[in-house]
Amino acid sequence: MRTIAIVNQKGGCGKTTTAVNLAGALTQDGGRVLVVDMDPQAHATLALGLDPESLDENLYEVLAEPCEGPGSGRLASIVQAISEDLHLAPSGIVLSALEQKLTAERAERRTERLEAALASVHRDYDFAIIDCPPNVGVLTFNALRAAREVVVPLETSDFAIHGVQKLLETIALLSDRIGHELSVRILPTLYDGRTRFARETLAEIRELFGDLCFDTVIRSNIKVREAARRGRPIGFYARSANGARDYGALALELSLAGAPEDRAQPEGEVTSTAGDREVVVRYRDPGATDVRIAGDFNGWVPDKDVQSLVQAEGPERVWTKILNLPPGTYHYRYVVDGEWREDPDNPNAVPGPVGGRNSVLVVR
Ligand SMILES: Nc1ncnc2c1ncn2[C@@H]1O[C@H](COP(=O)(O)OP(=O)(O)OP(=O)(O)O)[C@@H](O)[C@H]1O
Ligand SMILES: [Mg+2]
Repeated sequence: MRTIAIVNQKGGCGKTTTAVNLAGALTQDGGRVLVVDMDPQAHATLALGLDPESLDENLYEVLAEPCEGPGSGRLASIVQAISEDLHLAPSGIVLSALEQKLTAERAERRTERLEAALASVHRDYDFAIIDCPPNVGVLTFNALRAAREVVVPLETSDFAIHGVQKLLETIALLSDRIGHELSVRILPTLYDGRTRFARETLAEIRELFGDLCFDTVIRSNIKVREAARRGRPIGFYARSANGARDYGALALELSLAGAPEDRAQPEGEVTSTAGDREVVVRYRDPGATDVRIAGDFNGWVPDKDVQSLVQAEGPERVWTKILNLPPGTYHYRYVVDGEWREDPDNPNAVPGPVGGRNSVLVVR
């Protein structure tokens, strides 16, 4: 099961719309999908045609129980079937009391509840799509801990870029702390190509986030609102509307990319020594004369604590860097003739706090 959290602390950027319609599109591609409504506003529950007030139980009953207690295996008992392949773990206003309820717990225990609950259904679904509330509290932290992938919708009709850098840093920090990598992608939403503002914002998003940005752009489409009001994913309501096409394209893009754990790891041979691992990375460049490596493992001081070799391979020069690192997740860049660059051979990269992108290395 691939678990994808839809996260942005900014309200109204299309999180719920994305959760519900991406889920619908994935089922139309043959997937079995669970939508997890982690927002006490219960908009995803409503958008899938259920009245949260009329449901006897919701996620609160599952998450309020300790992970190892009677609640841990009971997620399946609160799940509602929307269609054969589309299921929902519903929310309700009571979910807003969860933070209060869990204050006595250690921070760690507070945030691992959803992960434990989803573990009990991981064979039943191909995807779990988690809709998060517009804040980064205990509910969103539960979602980030449970997920391996994060989609951040960014409104192209607003000054949406502000605040996103901070969110990405929070996610990177959390992913370090919980010891698993989170693959984060940006999704431009509410796009109206007729306005210059939206065109410029989209260009800015693409420039800033590069490959982290999906190719798919979700256009503003009135049918999307109508479908939500009717309680159905857009693909079930108006198959040929732009909204259905866009979420279909997003589902396809996600499916083609595959789960992050199945993607190629960066070039690097990892062999075990006592405690630390020896990690070998290589940089090829015919034009460069000086290549060093800097990252959080050496305090961002180029080539500090690094063994370095240079070899000629035909017209290319190859720099080999040998690092001794304990298991963990590291961010780094190459410094090529004084210029800081991401690793061209490493598909895993995140935006750096001062612009550009940092490559990410996982040592297991
Ligand atoms: N592609 C779209 N076309 C038209 N309307 C849209 C589209 N995406 C979202 N909307 C509308 O914009 C509003 C906000 O969207 P949505 O509820 O998905 O945002 P959200 O990020 O989940 O908000 P919140 O932070 O409050 O949970 C809703 O009224 C929704 O119907
Ligand atoms: Mg929402």
